Amino acid sequence: MLHSQDSVHTLYGGIVPEFASRAHIEAMDHVVRNTLQKAELRLNQLHAVAVTEGPGLIGSLIVGLSFGKALAYSSNLPLITVNHLEGHLASTQLNNHDIPFPHIGLLVSGGHTNLYVVDSPGHYQLLGKTLDDAAGEAFDKGAKMLGLGFPGGPMIDQLAKSGDPLKAPFPLPYPSTKSFDFSFSGIKTSLRYFLQSLDTQNNKATPADIAAGYQASIIEVLVQKTIHAAIHHGIKDIAIVGGVAANSLLRETIQKRSSSHKLRIHLPPLQYCTDNGAMIAAAAWHGYLNENFASLNVEPFSQQLQKSSKVNA
Ligand code: KG4
Ligand code: ZN
Repeated sequence: MLHSQDSVHTLYGGIVPEFASRAHIEAMDHVVRNTLQKAELRLNQLHAVAVTEGPGLIGSLIVGLSFGKALAYSSNLPLITVNHLEGHLASTQLNNHDIPFPHIGLLVSGGHTNLYVVDSPGHYQLLGKTLDDAAGEAFDKGAKMLGLGFPGGPMIDQLAKSGDPLKAPFPLPYPSTKSFDFSFSGIKTSLRYFLQSLDTQNNKATPADIAAGYQASIIEVLVQKTIHAAIHHGIKDIAIVGGVAANSLLRETIQKRSSSHKLRIHLPPLQYCTDNGAMIAAAAWHGYLNENFASLNVEPFSQQLQKSSKVNA
């Protein structure tokens, strides 16, 4: 069961950390209760409690981790802590099929744009990451400038369907073929100039055309670099995960482009692209098999760099 806080954050055009923590406190108990009810399970039928330890907003992580520890302790169950990014990378397993290792993993969310070689569950080599804004952030900030709601990705995705990207062309953000890093801060500036030019020039682009052009440019670079990474490393399987993996143009384009290179694309079901608990449970499965249990003293971490995990960089 998923509890979304988007309606709270929509009011403020973005995530307000304090509101996020409070919403976690209010939702936690009934989300767990309803999940058990829906699965027709009782606490004493569970084998372990899996919980996110970071990275993310520290207040929300404290609420979740404290709840997970208390639940594990009171139910006499082992605790498994999961890195949020590893959770996303495990989300493709929720598609009911196994992905061969090694595979290329593109993690595109509101906070991260990371390209990995995934050697095995828990073992990742980071090939590149964003040098500034994440791809999801570019969607959210672009949507704000276009006067759309939050989160911006789904709004732009939807609006772009009725637009013509050729009527609002944007430069490709950081298309370098020499680097697997990304950069999405410049494209916001291009959007600002484009919107200003609408007032001064005889530019007939509609909001849908602009959404389509802006989206096409972000997606093109994600697709190009991901396919390039697969070819460069001689790897045939590609997983795309994180909120932006829900993007319809990304899903369609990567499938089309990969066929000529005989690459196989693995995408999580749509509902498991954006943050969810099922992906945390999927990632915890390997920890459970290896009895990699956490102590009740474990603390959350907000930033990627604060903890030396193999998935971080
Ligand atoms: O993985 P996620 O739920 O949260 C983080 O870990 O950040 O990703 C949220 C991000 C937001 O920036 C949102 O705008 C973006 O994913 N997103 C999309 C789409 N659905 C969600 N971006 C583009 N197209 C979508 N359909
Ligand atoms: Zn996420």
